[in-house]
Amino acid sequence: GKVLVIHGPNLNLLGTREPEIYGYETLADINDMLQKQAAADGVPADFFQSNHEGDIVDTIQQAPAKGYNFIILNAGAFTHYSIAIRDAIAAINVPVIEVHLSNVHAREEFRHKSVIAPVVMGQILGFGVDSYFAAMAVVLRKIKQRLN
Ligand code: DQA
Repeated sequence: GKVLVIHGPNLNLLGTREPEIYGYETLADINDMLQKQAAADGVPADFFQSNHEGDIVDTIQQAPAKGYNFIILNAGAFTHYSIAIRDAIAAINVPVIEVHLSNVHAREEFRHKSVIAPVVMGQILGFGVDSYFAAMAVVLRKIKQRLN
């Protein structure tokens, strides 16, 4: 199996963006650690970041043809209102794990709703960068168990 990690808008600014909320690791740091975590189990991982909704929709649409078995997705603010991203997830047969660094439920009301939640396999949120590592751990276990 192989896994695709997608980061949505403003996550390219990690490390300097509201670090008291999102932490001091840069996106490159996080991707590097995720790549090593996956490689330790012999699983290839690819990474994509975009600030553009349509580019994220394109990337999700193309995931099955590119042979991805799982997607780890932090859709950023698109989580809360992008029906297009939700529909792209619903259109593919690749399971998606929704990730957030922050505990969105402890923040502003507008972050409490995830429009993608009904079409993802599950959500991991509130653990900072460990949200990503927990999601990758789930993916690696599922790949080993061939429950993908
Ligand atoms: C986020 C939470 C979103 O509400 C926010 O818009 C983000 C990051 C997180 O990882 O905590 O950009 O997805």
